Amino acid sequence: MDRDENERRIVAGIVENHGRDAHRLLSMLREVQRELRHVSPTAQQTVAETLGVCVTRVRAVVEFYSFLSAAPLGKFDIRISDSITDHMLGSRDIAAYLCDALAIRPGDIRPDGRVSMAFTSCTGLCEQGPAGLVNGYAIPRLTRERVDRIVELVNHDTPLSDWPEALFAVEDNVRLKDRLLANPVKPGASLERVLAQGRETIFEEIETSQLRGRGGAGFNTAWKWRFCYEGPEEVAVCPPGQPAAQAERYVVCNADEGEPGTFKDRVLLQSHADQVFEGMTVCAYLVGARQGFLYLRGEYLYLHQRLEGVLAERRRQGLLGEGILGRKGFDFDIEIRLGAGAYICGEESALIESLEGKRGVPRNRPPYPVTHGYLGKPTVVNNVETFFAAAAITLHGGEWFASVGTEKSKGTKLLSICGDCSRPGIYEYPFGVTISRILDDCGADDTLGVQIGGPSGMFISDKEFGRKLAFEDLATGGSFIVFDRTRDVLEIARNFTHFFAHESCGFCTPCRVGTALLKNLLDKIGDGHGAAGDLAELSRLGRFVRSTSHCGLGQTAANPILSTLERYPELYQKRLKTIDFEPGFDLDGALAIARRLSGRDDENAHLTQT
Ligand SMILES: Cc1cc2nc3c(=O)[nH]c(=O)nc-3n(C[C@H](O)[C@H](O)[C@H](O)COP(=O)(O)O)c2cc1C
Ligand code: SF4
Repeated sequence: MDRDENERRIVAGIVENHGRDAHRLLSMLREVQRELRHVSPTAQQTVAETLGVCVTRVRAVVEFYSFLSAAPLGKFDIRISDSITDHMLGSRDIAAYLCDALAIRPGDIRPDGRVSMAFTSCTGLCEQGPAGLVNGYAIPRLTRERVDRIVELVNHDTPLSDWPEALFAVEDNVRLKDRLLANPVKPGASLERVLAQGRETIFEEIETSQLRGRGGAGFNTAWKWRFCYEGPEEVAVCPPGQPAAQAERYVVCNADEGEPGTFKDRVLLQSHADQVFEGMTVCAYLVGARQGFLYLRGEYLYLHQRLEGVLAERRRQGLLGEGILGRKGFDFDIEIRLGAGAYICGEESALIESLEGKRGVPRNRPPYPVTHGYLGKPTVVNNVETFFAAAAITLHGGEWFASVGTEKSKGTKLLSICGDCSRPGIYEYPFGVTISRILDDCGADDTLGVQIGGPSGMFISDKEFGRKLAFEDLATGGSFIVFDRTRDVLEIARNFTHFFAHESCGFCTPCRVGTALLKNLLDKIGDGHGAAGDLAELSRLGRFVRSTSHCGLGQTAANPILSTLERYPELYQKRLKTIDFEPGFDLDGALAIARRLSGRDDENAHLTQT
């Protein structure tokens, strides 16, 4: 059998195993990538033919997700996290050391095909970096010694399954527990309460708790669930004369956690998955859903098997499947779907597109997913922590939860704290806690500022440490990055701006072009070529991208620039040249090769920038 034929056979087998269901396209392509180290044009064609879809659709999906590649990757594909916290922990030096030792350059595959190396966006291991992925599996705390070990394993062609487990050990680092983490729910306990109390009582408990979504935007959870429950009926598909059939409903747990500096969902899934699934099942009962999905970011592949194990155990205990806890008609199950390296898939409508086997491009809203979500049906999308909290509220009651927090932000919030502090990790606080208290607790000294809510959030300076964590003051999905006075504010803004330019899905022009222009301008200023006009342009462009972009990514992409420019204008000004404008293109620098070739270096062989 020739190579192409073998490839076609493998790919067709994968598509068959997925029941030729085009909604599962991303899962199929991930498997093809794993088996063949890439999704070649032949593989794309075979997938398209077997599924009966157009090959351009398959190609578009392959091109969209960073973890899929149309060109072969190495047998060991190594990716080093490029997030700011990894930089602060020395990732660039480690990457250079790794490249030297493997005789490879970033973005390349070694000529023997054994190994490829590249950078990737935040891997969610921010408090135990520098971190990387090998064939998608997370490796934290990269030191030179650990890199030496990796290089040895690669050069000996040791199968990944035989690599020492210690290399892959990811810690929880829970530092402070409050209401939720200190009172874990026993599997089934919340479901028993739901069945004993009934739908309306539990709806009221969730309402009383005033729980707001923990993914960042803070939408009221009880309202979302009610909207889904009461969602539009499928009148159109009812046979004449019969009552409207209830539409299918779906429950989706958003475990995409792509915001740099956020890793609390990783810890919840690693150590409290049962409670997260319990929360999803409570939601399913209340809204009348039979199918749920956990959308797990590709970077958390290492959790996949373990999570499947938790689901299997819950099925065994009658907590998932048909007739949950013996209640006829209470049928619900959860499927895990993996992402493939696209931050935008955390945006709920992009996530749903991805679940449907498409590129993760945000939909036009309204309608919102809660009425027109997965397959156009009413769908609840909630963050991991939201479901985790909902399970506890179901068991302990809404009052128990709402008795702490602030007027508009009830209960507690899990924070992922990293950066310049001696005790990074997970902290649970009642809403309303001050930034200075958090900094004291995590051992932060001489702090310059804190990035709250990740790159899409806000950089606050040391003059604002009296401010509070709450939706009415500083809202966050959970990212809390500390920077001390040795850090360069411009470099921080630059890293975040590069992140957005890389992660823009490209659908709308203001974001696609705007984030690239912001990146170029900031690079120009950061490299010492900026002029006063560039600063004005940076601010104008930032506000333009914010106000004209289609979704939350573009609407927040300029935040790192605008929030630092507002607080530290002098730091930007210090980097400027004393001219009004310098083009992004260095004319004199461009003539350097010509000077070398002609052997000239006299005054006339130079151009002065004016
Ligand atoms: C670019 C972008 C990325 C997002 N990433 C996440 C994410 O990783 N996890 C998450 O729960 N919500 C994320 N969100 C928010 C979701 O769109 C949605 O509001 C959330 O999942 C709803 O759940 P909640 O009500 O429990 O917060 C993101 C939003 C945007 C605009
Ligand atoms: S704002 Fe950016 S990420 Fe959002 S749809 Fe437009 S291009 Fe895509």
